[in-house]
Amino acid sequence: MTRGLWVTLEGGDGSGKTTQAALLEEWLRARGRTVVRTREPGGSEVGRLVRDIVLHHRGDIAPRAEALLYAADRAHHVATVVRPALARGEVVIQDRYLDSSVAYQGAGRVLDAGEIRDLSLWATEGALPDLTVLLDLDPAEARRRLDADDKPFDRLESERAEFHERVRGAFLALAASEPDRFLVLDAARPAEELAGAIRERVRVLL
Ligand code: TYD
Repeated sequence: MTRGLWVTLEGGDGSGKTTQAALLEEWLRARGRTVVRTREPGGSEVGRLVRDIVLHHRGDIAPRAEALLYAADRAHHVATVVRPALARGEVVIQDRYLDSSVAYQGAGRVLDAGEIRDLSLWATEGALPDLTVLLDLDPAEARRRLDADDKPFDRLESERAEFHERVRGAFLALAASEPDRFLVLDAARPAEELAGAIRERVRVLL
């Protein structure tokens, strides 16, 4: 049976993860692979309820509660969506995973990054993707893209610029500490070029 493959996309809001996920999916489908496109938070039915709390609740959520909500979403998602798809030999393309928790809750929310990572690994019984694509972008440029989009901001998107700088730094540090799992790309490059670089890396893993 064909081996399953798990690819996650990370980066700040507005870095182009959705575009790249769509282009990768199209390419894989054309090669005859079955693809599951999913995301965190909200990749399962339970997850969609959690997503609604973490992104749309008005007012504060205690940092540890927020971290646990993301971890709960992740635990259920990996157990009921990701692992079954990989066991069927499918390709899972996922918008955000535990690196987002480390970057946003760890660096951004002044919780301990190592604890956040361990919490997620406990939640998922140690599940790590085969490849994580980090779309790295200057937060000021991301801001311009989001403004041009004209969508209402969710809780995290409306955080201060300095918060997004910390998140960016945390993602880059994560990538540096696990160079085998990460592919870091400059998200300011044209979408087609980025897609080509991602395909090149995925081709090796298939
Ligand atoms: P995303 O789905 O990319 O937002 P949108 O659909 O609006 O583009 O991500 C939602 C937000 O959740 C994003 O700002 C980052 C945040 N997030 C965390 O803080 N921790 C996490 O563990 C995850 C997965 C996301």
